[in-house]
Amino acid sequence: MIPAPRLPVEQRLYVPSSGEASDVELLPAGDVTEGVLRVGGTVRRPHQPQSYAVADYLDWLEDAGFEGSPRFLGRDPSGRDVLTFLPGDCAGAMPEHWVQSEDLLVSVARLVRRLHAVSAGFVPAAHPFPPRPLPVAHEEQDGLVCHLDVTPQNVVVRRGLAVGLVDFDLAGPATGFKDSFNTAMHWVPLRHPGDSWPGWETLDPFRRLRVFADAYGWTEEERRRLPEFGAHATLLSYHRMEHRARNLGGGWARMWAEGAGGRIERRRAWLEANGSRLIRALTD
Ligand SMILES: Nc1ncnc2c1ncn2[C@@H]1O[C@H](COP(=O)(O)OP(=O)(O)OP(=O)(O)O)[C@@H](O)[C@H]1O
Ligand SMILES: [Mg+2]
Repeated sequence: MIPAPRLPVEQRLYVPSSGEASDVELLPAGDVTEGVLRVGGTVRRPHQPQSYAVADYLDWLEDAGFEGSPRFLGRDPSGRDVLTFLPGDCAGAMPEHWVQSEDLLVSVARLVRRLHAVSAGFVPAAHPFPPRPLPVAHEEQDGLVCHLDVTPQNVVVRRGLAVGLVDFDLAGPATGFKDSFNTAMHWVPLRHPGDSWPGWETLDPFRRLRVFADAYGWTEEERRRLPEFGAHATLLSYHRMEHRARNLGGGWARMWAEGAGGRIERRRAWLEANGSRLIRALTD
């Protein structure tokens, strides 16, 4: 496929079309970014330090024929990022009952697998991703740029199946295993049972993790090291979140004050305590 000619992302200006100003909706607030709007068939988000790195990645995905991500259209006259709106449903802050569907879980795993396949070969050049806080020497890293925040609120669902990913704010180089573990953590979900969302208490995380693993295609080796990898990744995310809460404030500080740290720590302990049961569920 020959890609359409495009200006470099930092030169791309979005000229609002007449009439779209009358079709405006405030999108459900996430934890950090405020004031995300749908305007006609577009989304307006505040411009951020990582916006151009993300925009280059979205261009790459578009050229690779990936349909499941927004297109970066440029910045509007007020400087906000403009992206295409992906029609469908996203989960609310407290994921609804329909989010529990196993068919949906399978489709999420497959969508993320496909994202990883099409992301291979993308090398950030003009706009590097800002470094993550607290780089840790032994964090796995093979340079595969991926989403890294595939929560139920960031997946677009049509007819019960995952068709799109939004909110690439945390995208950056990592590994496919890291991004898929992170996705499973949000979607199985992997949490201490005392921290279940209301209505999710009776779901079997071991079964759902196996369903995810088979649909994504984790290798035997990945299945065996998942609990240790997950506990380590969870410890890292505890320190990163504490760092962001302290240094960035805003939504990060609010989440921390509302007990996010305790939840992450209980998740880590749960992963550690259930290591052999998780491996059995993944390999038997
Ligand atoms: N391109 C898009 N297409 C369709 N829906 C979108 C799109 N972008 C955002 N949304 C909807 O708006 C919601 C909030 O947008 P987004 O996830 O980008 O910001 P956020 O969650 O507030 O950010 P953060 O996670 O950084 O706090 C999403 O959960 C989704 O429902
Ligand atoms: Mg979001």
